[in-house]
Amino acid sequence: MEKKLVNPDQLKQKNLLHIQDVYKYYGDKLVLNDIDFSVAHRELCTVVGPSGCGKSTLLRLVLGQEHPTTGQIFIDNKPIGVTDKTRGIVYQKYSLYPHLTVLENVALGLCLNCGFIEEVRTRHKIKKEARYFLDRVGLASHEAKYPHELSGGMQQRVAIAQAMITRPKILMMDEPFGALDPGTRESMQLFLLEVWEEFKMTVFFVTHDLEEALFLGTRVVVLSQYYSEGEGKDRKKGQGAKIVADYNLDKEAKSSAIKKNKDFVNLIYQIRREGFDPEHLQYISEFNLKHPDSFQTI
Ligand SMILES: Nc1ncnc2c1ncn2[C@@H]1O[C@H](COP(=O)(O)OP(=O)(O)O)[C@@H](O)[C@H]1O
Ligand SMILES: [Mg+2]
Repeated sequence: MEKKLVNPDQLKQKNLLHIQDVYKYYGDKLVLNDIDFSVAHRELCTVVGPSGCGKSTLLRLVLGQEHPTTGQIFIDNKPIGVTDKTRGIVYQKYSLYPHLTVLENVALGLCLNCGFIEEVRTRHKIKKEARYFLDRVGLASHEAKYPHELSGGMQQRVAIAQAMITRPKILMMDEPFGALDPGTRESMQLFLLEVWEEFKMTVFFVTHDLEEALFLGTRVVVLSQYYSEGEGKDRKKGQGAKIVADYNLDKEAKSSAIKKNKDFVNLIYQIRREGFDPEHLQYISEFNLKHPDSFQTI
């Protein structure tokens, strides 16, 4: 790895999200091992890694649903505290309430943040805002339907509208397209890129699908439990997951044709080896941390 001189304090000041020295244990099981990671405004940052490596755990820490065992997380240079409107979330399933209409589900994003009295007072405004976002996700004519009346792709559009209505600083997504068939999945990927462009958002997108991560991301961060804690003959598998690779990707407008491009396919092979191969254990100083904002504190 090329040695870079990155000052974590400068990254923390300039970037939207900053994670430093984060360890997460469940009992005595180490899941996240010293995560250092800083994300600029407007980045569409994808986090990819094998199942069970700790991607959802990392996302819950950034959401503020759980806390790191040690280490710190900042948004806009301030400690994140508990879950609030600065972070919106879309899950693979269960983001929507089955007994509420599409419009009510989207409005809920705002209602959850205000008390009953305030809700009554601002009901009209909330509805207007919900309609605006439903229109943006192309579902204006479906507002009175219930989630089960919509296709899987449409349900995820509603979930995205629900998360965006608070205008969060970061839209967080945990395998949001994982339950969709391949055709719908690809159209939702293109849709997300459009929404990201239009709203100039910062997105933190977790997936175990490498093709999806490379297609969507302006940056891909590879989290993996497959790395070595020792060098040479002392090589042995490390505890918990680390960021083993971090690449800057093209920010140009994309068409799905890029998925067949030679460089794209080669990078998939390379990351599969770096992050997904239990036999391929790189030592910490060999990690491909190529993104200009990547850093490691020792
Ligand atoms: N609440 C919890 N209590 C104990 N272990 C957990 C808990 N949540 C996750 N884990 C463990 O942490 C590891 C990472 O889980 P997770 O973050 O869900 O991985 P991923 O999202 O990458 O598939 C797994 O081994 C999982 O069993
Ligand atoms: Mg997960």
